[in-house]
Amino acid sequence: MTYQRTVVYTYIWLGLFIFIVQRAYGDVSYSIPEELKRGTEIGNVARDVGLDLKRLAARKARIDTEGNSRRYVDINLRTGELTVAERMDREEMCSEKLSCVLNIELMLENPLELHRIVVEIQDINDNSPIFPNALIKLEISENADKGATFRVDDAHDADMGLNSVQNYVLEKNEHFVLAVRTNDDGGKYSELILDKELDREEKDKMTLALTAVDGGNPSTSGSVTIHITVLDANDNAPVFSQGLYKASLPENSPLGTVVIKVSATDADAGINGDVTYEFSRISEKARKLFSLNQKSGEIVVIGPVDYEEESKYEIRVQGKDGTGLTSDTKVSIEIVDVNDNAPVIFLKSLNNPVPENAPPGTEVGIINVQDRDSESNRQIHCSIQQNVPFKLVPSIKNYFSLLTTGELDRELITDYNISITATDEGSPPLSSSKTVQLSVADVNDNPPVFDKQVYIAHVTENNSQGSSVSSVTARDPDWRQNGTVFYSLLPGEVNGFPVSSLLSVNGDTGVIHAVRSFDYEQYKDFKVQVLARDNGSPPLSSNVTMSIYVVDVNDNSPQILYPSPDGSSLMTELVPRAAQAGSLVSKVIAVDADSGQNAWLSYNIVKATDPGLFSIGVHSGEIRTQRDVLESDVMKQNLIVSVKDNGQPSLSATCTMYLLISDNLAEVPDLRDMSSEDNGSKITSYLIIALVSVSTFFLTFIIITLTVKLCNRRSPRLLFDGAVAIPSAYLPSNYADVDATGTLRSSYNYDAYLTTGSRTSDFKFIRSYNDGTLLADDTLKKSSSTAEELFGLVDDGRSLPQVT
Ligand SMILES: *[C@@H]1O[C@H](CO)[C@@H](O)[C@H](O)[C@H]1NC(C)=O
Ligand SMILES: *[C@@H]1O[C@H](CO)[C@@H](O)[C@H](O)[C@H]1NC(C)=O
Ligand SMILES: *[C@@H]1O[C@H](CO)[C@@H](O)[C@H](O)[C@H]1NC(C)=O
Repeated sequence: MTYQRTVVYTYIWLGLFIFIVQRAYGDVSYSIPEELKRGTEIGNVARDVGLDLKRLAARKARIDTEGNSRRYVDINLRTGELTVAERMDREEMCSEKLSCVLNIELMLENPLELHRIVVEIQDINDNSPIFPNALIKLEISENADKGATFRVDDAHDADMGLNSVQNYVLEKNEHFVLAVRTNDDGGKYSELILDKELDREEKDKMTLALTAVDGGNPSTSGSVTIHITVLDANDNAPVFSQGLYKASLPENSPLGTVVIKVSATDADAGINGDVTYEFSRISEKARKLFSLNQKSGEIVVIGPVDYEEESKYEIRVQGKDGTGLTSDTKVSIEIVDVNDNAPVIFLKSLNNPVPENAPPGTEVGIINVQDRDSESNRQIHCSIQQNVPFKLVPSIKNYFSLLTTGELDRELITDYNISITATDEGSPPLSSSKTVQLSVADVNDNPPVFDKQVYIAHVTENNSQGSSVSSVTARDPDWRQNGTVFYSLLPGEVNGFPVSSLLSVNGDTGVIHAVRSFDYEQYKDFKVQVLARDNGSPPLSSNVTMSIYVVDVNDNSPQILYPSPDGSSLMTELVPRAAQAGSLVSKVIAVDADSGQNAWLSYNIVKATDPGLFSIGVHSGEIRTQRDVLESDVMKQNLIVSVKDNGQPSLSATCTMYLLISDNLAEVPDLRDMSSEDNGSKITSYLIIALVSVSTFFLTFIIITLTVKLCNRRSPRLLFDGAVAIPSAYLPSNYADVDATGTLRSSYNYDAYLTTGSRTSDFKFIRSYNDGTLLADDTLKKSSSTAEELFGLVDDGRSLPQVT
């Protein structure tokens, strides 16, 4: 406000005041606008009160201010004018009071005079409207309805009346209009009215200028900025990025594997835009396998995922914002098969045990193989190990037949562990195996087999009855009774007697016993057949030949055939006087029923009339002259000859040989002399007869012997082939085998020495020492009459069968 203006106002006011003062006697009142300049004249108080100007100073006129110490007004003592002493601000002095009055007193002395002066201070528009804050912040929800009102702070104008705020003006905008209203106290305030709905998502902030205008002239104004923040209203549901999420997950994925992440966005802000996720529809099974992170939307594996259990899961996921708006989406999880199941082998049937004679190609079992995986992971190959006579043949679907491929032999392999391996085609492939135990059942397919092809036993003659002779063993590899061997003797005859009368066999052990005592001189050897039979059904058997050789014992003493041992006959050899040294004179002939050494005879002259004249061949028995016969030699010569065999101990016999040294029979009387020692005199004719008979006897003996030997033996070997003619044959046949070193062979050859006459030999039955020997028993029962007959012979003594 310029000073000029002030002056103009002042005069207007003055005219008004003067009118008032004139009507108010005692007291004087003035009305002045506020904010006058110091020294400005308010009014001439002296004149108004009627005071003498000249006496003002004398009477010490002065202004007193009631109470207040501040002096706003002064008096000019020279002119009597009241002036402004200090700036007067109505707002400061009276603030809100409607009328602002300054009461002062004019005091005069001499005499004391007191005049009340009232100075009314008039408001001028010296203040602009002011808003309390420079910025008004409003937060308005975007879903506020049209017509909603929002009060804003009033502006304040320190001035009064019209000078105070009279109006508000709002910057033009799209959404709000302004309503100006009056308070009860007359003050003006404004409200924003929503004219058009807000959309935070479109525009979330607005700045508007609001101006307050007072009614002064000229008017003043004050402005404020209104910041409007559009608050979000949850008007948007979350929106998923995909309507269908597809994921594939290998089975057996480790816990914590992220399967897929769903994501939904919400256009709203703050809590209204915070989306949380949850399953809205999920099977119980899937709930155990998957979990959903509420915040991130990640679906994570929390359990064992098994393709074989479920190959596909469908889940609905809901997205929800802070105030509950939702939407949902579908998640489809395909489980990818992993080759995690090994094939499983089932044995559906098994023919156990399988008989060993099952032909190749026999089906022994059926196998089923299963794999829970899919596609190539469930394609299966089956195999069995090498080196077993079995094979697998694929049958329908996953069935396999187990067949034999070759002959089975329980005696070679009793049990098979057939290892079946099944492998699938996965990558890497899985396999499993199963062992099938298969036994081979026995079939009686092996006959007993004897340890040896031929058994040879040597039995010393005169053995005791029941003594064991030998034993046979046969083995049968079959099982149990199919392999249990029993022994028996095959029926047969030895020289017309059943073998059971000679031998018996222990059925269980195969030990062979002599049923009777053997006589070498009766049986030198014989053969029996031993049968071994198993207990199978039907039984199998085999037989073997056992040769029994009876071993000679020196139980026969030498038998002197010539000269006659009893010496009853007068047998005298003639020795010519002309016989020279070395001439064969005679021969002692002896035999021994034994054989070998036991029959190897040696001859010795035990006693002689003239010991120097005759000698005897140790083994030939030939008596020869040792020297030429002399005239002086005694005519009658006697020799006592001993014949010994070579047995241990040796047996012997003696004989006496009568020799007559003479050239003719004329000397027969001497013979009488010679024989007179025994019988007295004999005539020459007797002698001749004797000589002839001796010669005849000797010849007959040789012929008979030869005939017998040739008839009974195929072997050309003869015990004695001729006494004189072949002296070397005197040695028993086995001694002919003396080898170059001169030692005898340890093995002897025995000749069967049986003649037809041996039927008369005695047989002695004994009660079988072994009741199991059926052969002996049977024989006893069946031929009891024969047995009795035979028993009758038992005590006949053991007369030796004669060889000749
Ligand atoms: C078969 O397996 C069983 C048990 O594993 C074993 O006792 C037996 O000796 C095996 N037989 C063969 C022939 O390998
Ligand atoms: C013996 O063999 C027969 C067939 O020859 C068979 O049936 C039987 O079972 C076998 N016995 C045993 C004990 O194996
Ligand atoms: C004894 O064995 C032979 C051949 O080994 C056979 O031919 C014969 O029949 C058998 N005898 C008996 C009685 O079994």
